Amino acid sequence: MPLPTLADLSALIRHRRSIKPTDLDPSRSVAQELLCQILEDATWAPNHGLTEPWKFHVFQGNARSLLAQKLQNAYREITPPSEFREDKYIKMGENPRLAPVVIAAILERHGGGGKIPEIEEIEAVASALQNLQLSATAAGLGGYWSSPPVLDAPTFRAWLGLRDADRCLGLIYLGWPRPGLAWPRSQRRPLVEKVVWHHAELDS
Ligand SMILES: Cc1cc2nc3c(=O)[nH]c(=O)nc-3n(C[C@H](O)[C@H](O)[C@H](O)COP(=O)(O)O)c2cc1C
Repeated sequence: MPLPTLADLSALIRHRRSIKPTDLDPSRSVAQELLCQILEDATWAPNHGLTEPWKFHVFQGNARSLLAQKLQNAYREITPPSEFREDKYIKMGENPRLAPVVIAAILERHGGGGKIPEIEEIEAVASALQNLQLSATAAGLGGYWSSPPVLDAPTFRAWLGLRDADRCLGLIYLGWPRPGLAWPRSQRRPLVEKVVWHHAELDS
């Protein structure tokens, strides 16, 4: 099978945008076969020592309502009453019901963490999630990576069956863009601000 050209790959990378659940079509489901391909692509990310430090909990159908309820309960649990925001609480209940698929991405430290430092395993999961988002983009799906503090709440962790060394690093909302959605634009600062070029002639 021919590889995509660099131009095609660059176009795909730059086309990927964070699409919020309110901009997804809640009536259109995502085929299981497509989800499996996207998840499989995620697992082809680089990972030091081939530890594959990831686990994906995929919520669809009514399971999304349970997820929403758990997120709301966790928010209540960890938020001091003076900081509690009703709008955030409501959004936590709505978002999982607006996206047809929500994936909780887990950093799973096999054997409770071994020779590979935790930071490298987090980096591997982040690479996997970028793979996942790019595959989803190529399929025409929209979605975004959400990382609310409630993911670290004790009851939420327990509900996902996380052990001490594991962490939920994000919720990936996925779905088909709603009809008529104007694909969001974004920008990045110029490369010159972010790259330091070293040339041999400067070495002496
Ligand atoms: C680790 C990580 C966590 C993120 N968490 C959130 C989040 O909690 N809420 C949110 O609105 N966006 C979140 N995002 C998405 C960013 O806001 C988004 O990538 C950024 O605005 C750039 O937009 P783009 O994805 O369309 O390029 C997260 C992204 C990453 C990489």
